Amino acid sequence: MENNKTIKILAIETSCDETAAAVLSVQSPSLLREGGSRSDTEGLEFPKIRTLSSVIKSQIELHKKMGGVVPEAAARAHVKYIRPVVEKAIDNSKLIIDDMDYIAVTAGPGLLPSLLVGVEFAKALSYALNIPLIPVNHMLGHLYSPFAASPPLTIRGGRGVIFPMISLIVSGGHTMIVLMKDIKNYRVLGQTVDDAAGEAFDKVAKMIGLPYPGGPEIAMLAQTGNSNAFTFPRAMLNSDDFMFSFSGLKTAVLYQLRKDESRLTDDAYRADIAASFQQAVVDVLVEKTMRAAGKHMPKSIVLAGGVAANLHLRKSLIEAGDHRGIPVHAPELQYALDNAAMISVAGYYRALRGISVDPLTLQVNPSLDIGQI
Ligand code: KG4
Ligand code: ZN
Repeated sequence: MENNKTIKILAIETSCDETAAAVLSVQSPSLLREGGSRSDTEGLEFPKIRTLSSVIKSQIELHKKMGGVVPEAAARAHVKYIRPVVEKAIDNSKLIIDDMDYIAVTAGPGLLPSLLVGVEFAKALSYALNIPLIPVNHMLGHLYSPFAASPPLTIRGGRGVIFPMISLIVSGGHTMIVLMKDIKNYRVLGQTVDDAAGEAFDKVAKMIGLPYPGGPEIAMLAQTGNSNAFTFPRAMLNSDDFMFSFSGLKTAVLYQLRKDESRLTDDAYRADIAASFQQAVVDVLVEKTMRAAGKHMPKSIVLAGGVAANLHLRKSLIEAGDHRGIPVHAPELQYALDNAAMISVAGYYRALRGISVDPLTLQVNPSLDIGQI
């Protein structure tokens, strides 16, 4: 990668049920140096990251009809939308495809048929146009999402101001707490041993007759419910680690519903279930994040992933951060939910390390670990 140049990255994301593309421009003198010195995160020179465009075609309406994401249907929709979405992202950026220095693409984790569409499309573009291809881990995308947001969380001041940072990533497929020592170094402190937080929202929503995706539906219904109506379990709340478990909570809700099936048609009852369930999830997420903060003394906390759209979670985490004097950043929704802008930022930091792959051989990996690529 050359020094003192504006790097442009086209990113493609199709890991689940959003077809997304984005164009990023990064101006960075010092960060472009391989193995940059400490100063690169201390703010003397810092990258100017600008999301030039971010296009997201959601498939929610399609999957709503089927009560959840059907992988083959998602893949067919990706095939239909990938080209117009990528073209729109390039058009909106006011650039042309030949301006791109890199193509970044989500290579996993995610649904195999969905991932394949984005990866094969990116491989074809990369090969035909001779633009280096950067595979990106979807979870790293969520980790870097606050730097894609507009305005982006700036790393000016680096170590002293926002790093170390604790990131709570909560999505439909993952729940994890990550410690970011600086912009390039991170460590997973803990994750879920079973269901993800968003998955629990989706499953409980289904049980009480709400459509997919369940998260926003539960959040809305919970507004009119009493969060103390039922005492649902807060699994692993007191375990001496940063692991989570949400499958017991989902089962506890199911048992409660079975106890009194006739009340399922009662809106007030369903609202109490939704509010009590949401409270149990939020309590565990906030408590564990704060305990991680107590141990690692971060300068900031970031909330990322689709469940970051939950206003009760946002508010509770911000209040808990205030209490400890730690600022909490939550990227706006279009950067919290699945998007390609976050993939472009993660792709940029991978490009810095000189990691591009042969477009003919890149394989998707549906269960890619955050530690791999
Ligand atoms: O990050 P994301 O868009 O996709 C994955 O990588 O999984 O997250 C989607 C998840 C879904 O489970 C959805 O129900 C949840 O985020 N979600 C919410 C809310 N909005 C979306 N969960 C709770 N409250 C919300 N307001
Ligand atoms: Zn995601």
